[in-house]
Amino acid sequence: MTTLVIGAGLVGSQVARLLVEQGERPILMDHAAQPQAIGQIVELDKVTLIPGDVLRPLCIVDALRTHGITQIVHTAANPMLTLGAQKDPYAAINLNIMGTVNVLEAARVTGLKRVVVSSSSVLNHYLEGGGDGGEIGREEAFPRPTTFYSATKQAVESLGLNYAKWCGIEFAGLRYGAVFGPWNGAGGGGPSNVVREAMRRVLAGQEAQIGPGVMEWVYSKDAARGTVMALQAKDLGGGIFNLTMGALTRPGDMASAIAAVVPGAKVKF
Ligand SMILES: NC(=O)c1ccc[n+]([C@@H]2O[C@H](COP(=O)([O-])OP(=O)(O)OC[C@H]3O[C@@H](n4cnc5c(N)ncnc54)[C@H](O)[C@@H]3O)[C@@H](O)[C@H]2O)c1
Repeated sequence: MTTLVIGAGLVGSQVARLLVEQGERPILMDHAAQPQAIGQIVELDKVTLIPGDVLRPLCIVDALRTHGITQIVHTAANPMLTLGAQKDPYAAINLNIMGTVNVLEAARVTGLKRVVVSSSSVLNHYLEGGGDGGEIGREEAFPRPTTFYSATKQAVESLGLNYAKWCGIEFAGLRYGAVFGPWNGAGGGGPSNVVREAMRRVLAGQEAQIGPGVMEWVYSKDAARGTVMALQAKDLGGGIFNLTMGALTRPGDMASAIAAVVPGAKVKF
């Protein structure tokens, strides 16, 4: 088995680390890799880091052929996820939807079996409508995403499930909660950056600030472990999976957790 991990950021670098720990040498593809940050998560001489743009389909096919890839994890994303997509919808729509289609098409034409793609738990939260109870034939029968980012993730899931149904690809779409964890590079979502900045500030003895919202989180190493499990599961089942801590975290819980590891930490909401 040789895995192509597309997107070497907060989650992709952890996926590569786990694969290395299992004895594999994964191929990490990124159009703007941050080797210094990646090297703090996984030993760089144990992975093959290649430049490549998921928006150029032949890049993907080239990587599949050159490195004898047997499965793909696709985690490429624009910075700041939901917030970034609200500022630049076209870029997010292009990368999230067409980037994923390029991956699925590359898998289809080369006969690759399994593709695991990052979705998001925003699809559990950023939805509205469906008030008529799902009655078929009614225009508002199904709830709709309320942000550009969640709309792209919904499209990604639907497209992946259709590639699974009609093209014989084993597809998993993983709905990560907001991801936090060690990462010194740029990237991640808004909440990932808020936690990173909060930890940086309390470790420097300064007051940290966290948002007032109740969130569904996942630690980056757990998101990666779930991703590797989806890569290796014998039977993938339904194709879409929640990958979160399985509970909602309130700001007070977060402040207590920070105070437990940094005694005396000051956190305001
Ligand atoms: N971080 C979160 O809180 C969170 C929550 C839910 C879902 N997700 C999803 O998980 C996935 C991974 O998120 P992350 O936090 O690791 O993101 P990240 O920003 O840390 O990493 C994404 C990587 O993709 C690369 N990339 C961007 N455009 C590319 C392109 N055209 N070709 C190749 N590489 C490209 C970036 O350079 C970056 O290194 C994304 O799909 C994201 O939507 C993230």
